[in-house]
Amino acid sequence: MDEIIIKGGRPLTGEVIVGGAKNAALPILTASILAKGKFTFHNAPRLKDVDSIMDLLSTMGAVVERDGQTVHIDTSGMNDYEAPYEHVRKMRASILVLGPLLARMKKAKVSLPGGCAIGARPIDLHLNGMALLGADITLEHGYVEAACKQLKGAEIYFDIPTVTGTENLMMAATLAKGTSVLRNAAREPEIIALADVLNQMGADISGAGTSVITIKGVKKLKPVTTTIIADRIEAGTLMVAAALTRGDVKIKNCDPFHLKAVIHKLEKTGAEVQVFKKSVRVKGAAHINSIDLKTMPYPGFPTDMQAQFMVLMSVANGFSVIAETIFENRFIHVSELSRMGADITISGNHAMIKGVPELSGAPVMATDLRASASLILAGLAAKGTTTVSRVYHLDRGYEFLEKKLALLGAAIKRVPAKTKP
Ligand code: UD1
Repeated sequence: MDEIIIKGGRPLTGEVIVGGAKNAALPILTASILAKGKFTFHNAPRLKDVDSIMDLLSTMGAVVERDGQTVHIDTSGMNDYEAPYEHVRKMRASILVLGPLLARMKKAKVSLPGGCAIGARPIDLHLNGMALLGADITLEHGYVEAACKQLKGAEIYFDIPTVTGTENLMMAATLAKGTSVLRNAAREPEIIALADVLNQMGADISGAGTSVITIKGVKKLKPVTTTIIADRIEAGTLMVAAALTRGDVKIKNCDPFHLKAVIHKLEKTGAEVQVFKKSVRVKGAAHINSIDLKTMPYPGFPTDMQAQFMVLMSVANGFSVIAETIFENRFIHVSELSRMGADITISGNHAMIKGVPELSGAPVMATDLRASASLILAGLAAKGTTTVSRVYHLDRGYEFLEKKLALLGAAIKRVPAKTKP
């Protein structure tokens, strides 16, 4: 197990390239279940979560290979319809195989994901939707078993706009008989990216990116070659790193349109943000202004950027309030930030942050994916040395983050941990 050691206090400067989006790659790779044949996915990030979905697909009979940033999947011989506990336990997003399996094989057996560090995260909305499409669903022995003769188009209303729920239902509905309408659907860019790939495969989907998605069922889909979009959360994390270290960084190969909420808030903190067609340049301000923010479904401020902004607010002038409205338990990074000198009080889903002049380096432990990124950011800004352990959380969703930060001038290195966590 590795840890990351950072000597803080260096402003980041230069240019950095953003990798493929984890949250687009996961559903797009599972979409390969929907058609028999050879798929090629370019710009597929080398991440533990992407490895997990590749392992799961190969367990189910697909031939899966990686060649650098390209993943090849041949689903011709795929015949298994079970996603076992060992896989789903590692990554909740494995539930994304449910819709495609049901659509192509008319059967699916998927382990229930259970809780996770950032909250209960139920899948009831996925299951209700599948039932409306005509699946018989049973929950037994920790597994969801779903079966159907033929999925049928239906109107599905989501109580909450769920990202993977929308993706799962959208994939299931592509091969259903008749038309399905998803209402109060999630609007994240990754949903548009998935719909684009499904349409390229021969599906008939309109409205992705709005809250009403219409899917006209088709008889068959075909394999494709496609490219995964850039990771807006990685881009946002690098933008905060530039602002926090009072640096000057051009973040390339991202879509600034997907980052509007982040850019808006970053500018309010005093950072200068220049927007180009496929890149942004962030120049940090000497004095960071405190701001309030509230996480919301897209196009609101992303919950996946909350922990990173909390670090920025920890060293801002004055008080900030952050409201987390998506996940109930997403302040677990606070106790570690407090150990680095941050002054943060939690009350329910609100965090009150009193800016301090400086954080101080300390040994800290990562608890989930975005929390790990926030601790690394804190380490970049802190006085002295910070050691972040349990970085396997980081490896789930950030590709070579420490290498990218080192190229921007950070004093950061990955070493094998001395003691087992
Ligand atoms: C996805 C992202 C994750 C991001 C999150 C919110 C992927 C692989 N992961 O997670 O990075 O943090 O969106 O932007 O894309 N809910 C229910 N019942 C359900 C499903 C969800 O109550 O059946 C609730 C959740 O508990 C949560 C809210 O809906 O409060 C939104 O969650 P959801 O959008 O489903 O998150 P994920 O798709 O798991």
